[in-house]
Amino acid sequence: MKTAMHTLLCTLIPIYHGNAAAYRKSISMLHDASAQFKRVQSLKRKLEINTETCLDGGKSHPPLFSVAPMMDWTDNHYRTLARLISRHAWLYTEMVVAETIVHQKDNLDRFLAFSPDQHPIVLQIGGSNLENLAKAAELANLYSYDEINFNCGCPSGKVAGHGCFGARLMFNPKLVGHAMSAIAANSDVPVSVKCRIGVDDRDSYNELCDFIYTVSSQSPTNHFVIHARKALLSGLSPAENRKVPPLKYEYYFALLRDFPELQFTLNGGITCINQVDAAIRQGASGVMVGRAAYNNPWFTLGHVDVAIYGVPFHRCSRRQIIEQYQEYADSVIGKFGSNKPNVRQLVKPLLNLFHSEPGNSRWKRAADAALRHCKTVRSFLEETLPNLPDEVLDSTLVNSPCDHERFADVDAILPPPYRSSGEQLAYEEGEGTRQGSLLSCL
Ligand SMILES: Cc1cc2nc3c(=O)[nH]c(=O)nc-3n(C[C@H](O)[C@H](O)[C@H](O)COP(=O)(O)O)c2cc1C
Repeated sequence: MKTAMHTLLCTLIPIYHGNAAAYRKSISMLHDASAQFKRVQSLKRKLEINTETCLDGGKSHPPLFSVAPMMDWTDNHYRTLARLISRHAWLYTEMVVAETIVHQKDNLDRFLAFSPDQHPIVLQIGGSNLENLAKAAELANLYSYDEINFNCGCPSGKVAGHGCFGARLMFNPKLVGHAMSAIAANSDVPVSVKCRIGVDDRDSYNELCDFIYTVSSQSPTNHFVIHARKALLSGLSPAENRKVPPLKYEYYFALLRDFPELQFTLNGGITCINQVDAAIRQGASGVMVGRAAYNNPWFTLGHVDVAIYGVPFHRCSRRQIIEQYQEYADSVIGKFGSNKPNVRQLVKPLLNLFHSEPGNSRWKRAADAALRHCKTVRSFLEETLPNLPDEVLDSTLVNSPCDHERFADVDAILPPPYRSSGEQLAYEEGEGTRQGSLLSCL
């Protein structure tokens, strides 16, 4: 495991060894490639960011492991719990629509405030109106997120059906480039895009590369989170869109090969820490986990600090974590008006903490009953925790069995390397024919 970390950090970031000569040499070699001057600047900036990251006493580690943005799930309360389990995982907010930020500018704390403990934290915003995206980024800048991420992967009819939004934006990489420039110009932190590997019938590897190439060359975007399945804009529910289209990890690993100057985070279908480690050993710049981090937070997040970041682990039991969470939870009840948030909302992230453990079903039934009358999280816990065995509450983490070799054969099925010139032209012609249906985006 340590070797995997070491190799990754050596190849990605020479600075991690304090090796200034290697850093200068890589920068000067990159400068030689004058035809790619703009991309060189991006890389230089990325390396500088990483220099700061690693020289600040290890306060903030690179995003080797992230918890995905999930609407209604990765709210402030869940993130508070997640941070108690892992000190170093990067946490993404739920998507916040740019228009919400702009129209609620007198009520921003409700949507944007977070406790400093939640660093490193990334704000995900959604939208396509450049003016609103710019204003939203400017307002969000006051909150000191570590990165702003732009949603180009949401297939939901609710948003995708109303003009350009989410995954539909992948049809128009130039618009995404403009959006990213507008966001970056109004923000002090790096910007990134979260996208699918394709949408509807625009699902070839080359079309994905065209998207990445256009966005990265027309904006200061160096980091892409790749959900490794395509989105189907009609016929599937959002939940089906996270299950039915097949995962194509080979597209992700081919992007690492074809855009070595960019940073790509792998997302989709990763369920345990061994798979995260396997992806990193295979060269992934980082891995993002969604449903597993929510549905089984203890086992998914509990191993991150040691197994992925190699930092000493402060062994906590779930009883200790719950005690800390309860103090937070009871201190924020009603903070944004009567019952906002309420006990039910604050208890919600705890409900998966005992996934598959003895006593879990009994505890859930007791939780259901207690939520009908408890007025504080403390009273909820006093009433329900006796349903769980002490050995479950007081145990620390053990390794869970899980598939190690998920990415071992991926090299054998990589798509052919990206051919930018001819294909790029063909893509832009194709884009032209779609212009009519895309006018609503501009
Ligand atoms: C309940 C739920 C809400 C989600 N909301 C968002 C969102 O707001 N923004 C986004 O980019 N992706 C969203 N996603 C997708 C996840 O970020 C992630 O890409 C997807 O679940 C695949 O990763 P996984 O297989 O690790 O769960 C959501 C997923 C779920 C389950």
